[in-house]
Amino acid sequence: MTVYLNGQFLPLEDARIPVLDRGFIYGDGVYELVPVYQGQPFRLPQHLARLQRSLDGIRLANPHTEAQWEALIRELIARQPFADQGVYLQVTRGVARRDHAFPKDAAPTVFMMSNPLATPSAEQVERGVAVVTADDNRWHRCDLKTISLVGNVLMRQLAADAGAVETVMFRDGFLTEASASNVLIVVAGTIVAPPKDSLILPGITYDATLEFAQEAGLPFEVRPVPKAEALGADEMWLSSSTKEVLAVTTVDGGPLRSGVPGPVFRRMHALFQQKKPHRP
Ligand SMILES: Cc1ncc(COP(=O)(O)O)c(C=O)c1O
Repeated sequence: MTVYLNGQFLPLEDARIPVLDRGFIYGDGVYELVPVYQGQPFRLPQHLARLQRSLDGIRLANPHTEAQWEALIRELIARQPFADQGVYLQVTRGVARRDHAFPKDAAPTVFMMSNPLATPSAEQVERGVAVVTADDNRWHRCDLKTISLVGNVLMRQLAADAGAVETVMFRDGFLTEASASNVLIVVAGTIVAPPKDSLILPGITYDATLEFAQEAGLPFEVRPVPKAEALGADEMWLSSSTKEVLAVTTVDGGPLRSGVPGPVFRRMHALFQQKKPHRP
C-alpha cells in the first residue's frame, strides 16, 4: 500500500515516525476519514472544513491549503488499485521533547493512507444491526475529531464484547452518538437528530442525511432526544462515512420495535445510494 508521510508518497512498510511524535506521546492531533466512491471523494470540501475546525479547536495551524489537501488526497487515491476507498488523514503537533505545553518550533506530522471502503454488507442493510447502550463518559469536546480516541475505543469494545456493531451513548439522560457514528431516530414518521453541539461529532453523513431528507420532503427535526424516546423510537439509524445509513434493529439484546429496518430507513437508504458518487 502506498501512503503519504510529510511530503512523500512511499510504501506503508517504509513510513516511519519518531517515538517522540506528540501524536504517539499525547494523542495530540486530529484526523479525518473521507469516503471515496469509484475514485471520487464524497463531500471533500465538508471534510476539509471539519479538519480546519478540528485544527482550530486544538490550536494547530493547518499545514496545507485546501487546494494542496485536495491535490494530495487525489494523488493518494490515484495510487491505490481499488476504486472505493476510505482516505484516512491525520495531523499531529509534531516531534518534540516531552512537555505538555506546545513546542515552539515543531513541524506538524502529516500522514495519510487509503484502505478499501468497508461499507455495510447486504445482509446488514437488509436485517439491520445490533447495538448496546452505555453512559457517555467521554470528554466535553466530542465535536473535535481528535486522534485521542481511547474513550471511543472503550465504548466500541463494549459492543464488540456483546457481538454488536456499535455502542449508542447517552449523557445526562439524552442521546449523544455512538462510538464511531452519529445516531438518528424516527418517531411517527419524522426523522429526529440530536443537535450538533460540543457533545457529538458534526458528522458529514449526518448532514448529508438531513439534506437528502429535506430534498425528498421527508419531515425531520433537530432537537435533544431523551433516552426513553430513543429506546422507544420507531426506527434508529447509525450514520457515518463507512456505514452510510444503517438501521439498528437490536438494542441491548432485544428487538427495537418489530426488529426489522423500518420504511423511513428504506427510503433514506435508497436516496443515499442514488446520491453518492457513481462511476464518472
Ligand atoms: C464519534 C463519531 N461520531 C460520528 C461519526 C460520523 O461522522 P462522519 O459521518 O463524518 O463519518 C464518526 C465518524 O467516524 C465518529 O467517529
